[in-house]
Amino acid sequence: MKVKKIFFKELGDSRGHLVAIENNLNIPFQINRVFYIYGSDREVIRGQHANINSEFVLINVSGKSKIKVMNDGKEMIYELNSPCEGLYIPRLVWKEMYDFSEDSVLLVLSNFAYDPDEYIRNYDEYKLYMKDNKGGVI
Ligand code: TYD
Repeated sequence: MKVKKIFFKELGDSRGHLVAIENNLNIPFQINRVFYIYGSDREVIRGQHANINSEFVLINVSGKSKIKVMNDGKEMIYELNSPCEGLYIPRLVWKEMYDFSEDSVLLVLSNFAYDPDEYIRNYDEYKLYMKDNKGGVI
């Protein structure tokens, strides 16, 4: 699967809005980890890594941010600015999160528990890994 936007149905009524996310229903994996990123200044760049095993869906539940991904040697920039849309990022995609608004809360869902050993945090190493492994799982 490729990097892609996912759109969530906005539920709710006159009392306000609600978005529901369920395993294997409107998300392409089983959720095993949830974290959120907030309080990052506009000039901060976060991420700058690729994951060997983990897949992600990123949702700006508040505010906005930009996500730069390097996929198949092609750079793409996505803006997230709605609680109703997510960005799916498969394994082995280099990603950077930046341009955070002051009110940005970036919710991240993943299919694997945190394991620092499956993070590639050096871009040259990432390029080498992609060349040598062609996407093999560890
Ligand atoms: P880091 O991966 O550097 O954040 P980002 O990719 O947003 O720039 O993680 C920051 C800190 O949080 C680091 O000490 C590792 C820790 N961490 C966890 O303990 N569990 C997690 O699921 C994540 C994503 C990070």
